[in-house]
Amino acid sequence: MTTPPRPTPPLPSQPPSSALLSATGLCKRYPNGVAAVDDVSLYLRKGEILGLVGESGSGKSTTAKMILRLLRPDAGQVIFAGRDLATVRGAELRALRARLQLVPQSPQTSLNPRLTIGQAIAFNLRAHGCPRAAVPARVAALLDRVGVPPGDAGRYPHEMSGGQVQRVALARALSTDPELIVCDEAVSALDKSIQAQVLNLLAALQRDTGVAVLFISHDLAVVEHIADRVAVMRHGRVVEEGDVHQVWTAPHDPYTRELLSSIPPLG
Ligand SMILES: Nc1ncnc2c1ncn2[C@@H]1O[C@H](COP(=O)(O)OP(=O)(O)OP(=O)(O)O)[C@@H](O)[C@H]1O
Ligand SMILES: [Mg+2]
Repeated sequence: MTTPPRPTPPLPSQPPSSALLSATGLCKRYPNGVAAVDDVSLYLRKGEILGLVGESGSGKSTTAKMILRLLRPDAGQVIFAGRDLATVRGAELRALRARLQLVPQSPQTSLNPRLTIGQAIAFNLRAHGCPRAAVPARVAALLDRVGVPPGDAGRYPHEMSGGQVQRVALARALSTDPELIVCDEAVSALDKSIQAQVLNLLAALQRDTGVAVLFISHDLAVVEHIADRVAVMRHGRVVEEGDVHQVWTAPHDPYTRELLSSIPPLG
């Protein structure tokens, strides 16, 4: 008896030649033997929001760290703005870092507790070449843009709410006019109503600046709301990738179907 051929999972579509970021065949095994990422490929166009979803431990953050060059892949390649990140050094690497920014998950750890929020943004501005004299006005404009009163620049993160801290983390990320922001569960720790406000802010900032966003989340409803395309990860691999509405309407992969069936109806 012959077994019927397994349906071919939709492989990540080929990156367009104009892709801003293209990661190919990324692999990472941690020293403890965990194969966290196993042959992951994904791409982002300029100005696009790619949702990266999957259960806890599926390798989303590890993928993000390799894309941000915070972690060296065991195999694979990350091409950003036409440059192979593994080969970039020195001044070019610093310049490239300004173009790739991270908004981390936890309001408690996304900002240095010893710096005022104004200092945190100023630090990023100065690290990427903003003239000292221009810093205060830039800090004020950035805070204003994310809905934090510029008069709060002297406050410390612990004196602010989680939503405000994530707004400041967005302002800091935007301070270098990046082309790509990686949001790793950036709104997951916030209450639902605050989460919606910060998401709407992110969407507005994305529209205004044209920045591309790699939006990592385990919350599929949030990803559907914000993303253009989605990649679904499981056990270190991308099991499905495509236009978010197409994937959500007609998922190919059984795991994607399982994930989607667990979304609570919108309230
Ligand atoms: N520094 C590390 N050392 C060893 N193992 C790690 C390390 N970081 C992550 N892992 C393991 O690698 C796998 C992938 O982890 P990763 O943090 O990338 O997943 P994730 O999809 O971001 O999960 P979550 O949704 O919980 O944030 C997990 O099994 C995790 O336990
Ligand atoms: Mg993670």
